[in-house]
Amino acid sequence: MTTRFLAATFTAAATAALLATSHAAFAQASGKIKVGLMLPATGTFAALGTAIENGFRLHVAERGGKLGGREIEFVRVDDESDPAKATDNVNKLVKRDNVDVLVGTVHSGVAMAMARVAKETGTLLIVPNAGADAVTGPMCAANIFRSSFSNWQPGYAMGDVVAKKGHKKVVTITWKYAAGDESVKGFKEAFEKAGGTVVKELSLPFPNVEFQALLTEIAATKPDAVYTFFAGGGAVKFVKDYAAAGLKKNILLYGAGFLTDGTLEAQGADAEGLLTTLHYADSLGTPRDSAFRLAYAKSYKLQPDVYAVQGYDAAQMLAVGLEAVKGDISKKAEFAAALQKAKIDSPRGAFSLSKSNNPVQDIYLRQVSGKENKVVGIAAKALTDPGRGCRL
Ligand code: BEZ
Repeated sequence: MTTRFLAATFTAAATAALLATSHAAFAQASGKIKVGLMLPATGTFAALGTAIENGFRLHVAERGGKLGGREIEFVRVDDESDPAKATDNVNKLVKRDNVDVLVGTVHSGVAMAMARVAKETGTLLIVPNAGADAVTGPMCAANIFRSSFSNWQPGYAMGDVVAKKGHKKVVTITWKYAAGDESVKGFKEAFEKAGGTVVKELSLPFPNVEFQALLTEIAATKPDAVYTFFAGGGAVKFVKDYAAAGLKKNILLYGAGFLTDGTLEAQGADAEGLLTTLHYADSLGTPRDSAFRLAYAKSYKLQPDVYAVQGYDAAQMLAVGLEAVKGDISKKAEFAAALQKAKIDSPRGAFSLSKSNNPVQDIYLRQVSGKENKVVGIAAKALTDPGRGCRL
């Protein structure tokens, strides 16, 4: 074989390889981005899933259906807030539907299964609600982001508020799963650091709503106050049952803000006056929030809630990442670096991400007045989840 022939063969092979690579790169950076939306469409968290999807779609629509120059296509799965089905559901999206990015979910137990698969496969994941501390703690990864909160955040902020109100003895009540346990743990950390005592921790399995026996136990314990985490349909029933048991007028009820978010229509007067902590409220009145609320109400004939904001911000985060890589979602390190540097212009107020990719954000103290969670103060300014166990 002559040197000339070898050189020609090499050149042809190199050209073919180059063409193949640029074709692949073109395919990566063109065509549609497949978003796997894994949210509850049934069960106690169904309304939360709908609000998240509405918020996400609203932002995509505001950008003409494209993020980072690429059209967005959705593949949806109803996760039923069932951790037992979670791994199969997320594997379907990743392995059967070949989604480019996962967006989900509401329930902490389901989100942990999503994070596990995202970590194993390197698929981008944006969590638009579930607060599981582990997702931005021991399970953290450069391809996993949260647009919402950690369970620790609203709980910790409320621990301080309740202590400052002079309460000494508190009973906690929640569902027995990661979100409830971690919300109570955050509350207890701040409350006991400030000199209070959690005298009893009550719980029932998710998504049970048979509260009666536990309410009787609260009445018998006679604490100064009660701290609770419930959300969705369970929160509606808890607030109504607490009032019906005659406890509302004698033992002050405090909660993580999910207790009264997206639920006030159904809770009616039984929620009036309740104090909660959360990273959103109905009366922020900033130009950014007012524009968002107007656009949401126009599109869906509904008022937005915290879940809608988190869905909207998940889409904003995807937009930031995709713009930085000019639509080439295979550039994961650049995508992640852009989000680490970003300030997300959220309706809740602008936020950045912590080292473990969880929002650093103000936690508002809100009080129910009519059909609104009105801001009465800032319970914790720029609160950063400690990201315990995260190595990034
Ligand atoms: C959770 O499971 O993490 C969760 C569910 C509903 C509201 C807030 C948190």
